[in-house]
Amino acid sequence: MMKSEVLVARKVFPPVLERLRRHFEVEANEADTIWDSAELTRRLQGKAGAFTTGSERIDGALLAACPRLRAVCNMAVGYNNIDVDACTARGVLVTNTPEVLTETTADFGFALMMAAARRMAESERFLRSGEWKKWSYDMFTGSDVHGSTLAILGMGRIGQAIARRGALGFGMKVIYHNRARLPAAVEAPLNARYVERDALFREADHLLLVVPYSPASHHAVGATELALMKPTATLTNIARGGVVDDAALAQALRERRIAAAGLDVFEGEPRVHPYLLAVPNVVLTPHIASATVATRLAMADLAADNLIAALGCGPHAGRPPTPVNPGVLTGR
Ligand code: DGY
Repeated sequence: MMKSEVLVARKVFPPVLERLRRHFEVEANEADTIWDSAELTRRLQGKAGAFTTGSERIDGALLAACPRLRAVCNMAVGYNNIDVDACTARGVLVTNTPEVLTETTADFGFALMMAAARRMAESERFLRSGEWKKWSYDMFTGSDVHGSTLAILGMGRIGQAIARRGALGFGMKVIYHNRARLPAAVEAPLNARYVERDALFREADHLLLVVPYSPASHHAVGATELALMKPTATLTNIARGGVVDDAALAQALRERRIAAAGLDVFEGEPRVHPYLLAVPNVVLTPHIASATVATRLAMADLAADNLIAALGCGPHAGRPPTPVNPGVLTGR
C-alpha cells in the first residue's frame, strides 16, 4: 500500500520522526526554519497530514490551497494557531496534546510566580553585576507566597494543578474566575472559591493567567484590570501572548502600580515589548512552561499518535487519542 505523505513542520525528537517514517512518507523540517504561510502552503501540497507546533498558522486560505490535507496534529495543548472552524468545515481533523503537560506547566507557573514575588531575577542581575556590597534589612524585599491569596483566571486542568500546589503546599487561599463555575466536588479539595471577574483582580495577591487565547480572552488583562489590583500584587502569564496588554502591563510595572510580573508568553513573540525589557520588576522567560525533556517527548509522542491514528494507521486507526473537533471523525 502507498504510504500517505505528511509534513513535520518543525524539528522534533529523532525517535518520534522515525516512528512517523514507519507509517508515512515524511517531509521533515530538519533546519527548523519558521515557514511563512506561502512556504507552509507550498510544502503541504499533496500532504494528507501535518505535524505542527504553535508557530504554524493554519487558516482558511491555507486549507483552501491544500485540499488533500486531512489532519493537523498540533504539538501543544493550545491551538489558537489553528482556525478550527475552517478545519471542521473542510473535514480536517485537529488534535492537540492535553494532559501530558499539565503538571510540568503548573510547576513552571508556580515557579515563575514565586520568582516574581521574591524578586529572583532582579536580585540575580544585581549580584552578577557586582553591585552586592553588603546585606541590608530591606534589600529585595518581596511579598510572601505562603498564606497569601492565589487568584487564577482560567480554571482548567493546569489552573487546577496550580491551585493544588498553592492550597496544599503553601496554605494559600485560592480564588478563581472561569467561564463556568466548577462543581463543588472539584472546588472542595482545592479550597477554591469562585469570584466575579473584578473581585479576582481586586483580591489577588498573586494572579495566575491560564486561559486559552481566543478573541474573547484578547487583552483580558489591560489597564482597567491592572488598575483594580493591589500595588503589592504580582501577575504571572503562562497562557498566551495577547491575553495581557503588554504595553499596559509594562506601564503598570514601571509606575509600581503592581509589584512584579512573571511572563512566559508575549504578544507577537518571539518579539518582546521593549518597555517590558526595560522594567526591572518582571521575570521574562521564552515560552518554556512545558519544557522538560520528559514532557516535550510526551507531547511529541502524543502528536505523532494522533497523526498516525487520524490517517488510519497503527493500533488506534481512526481513533486519535485527543481530537479537538471529533465530529469530523464521525463524518468520515
Ligand atoms: C502549549 O502546549 O500550548 C504550550 O504553550 C507550548 O506551545
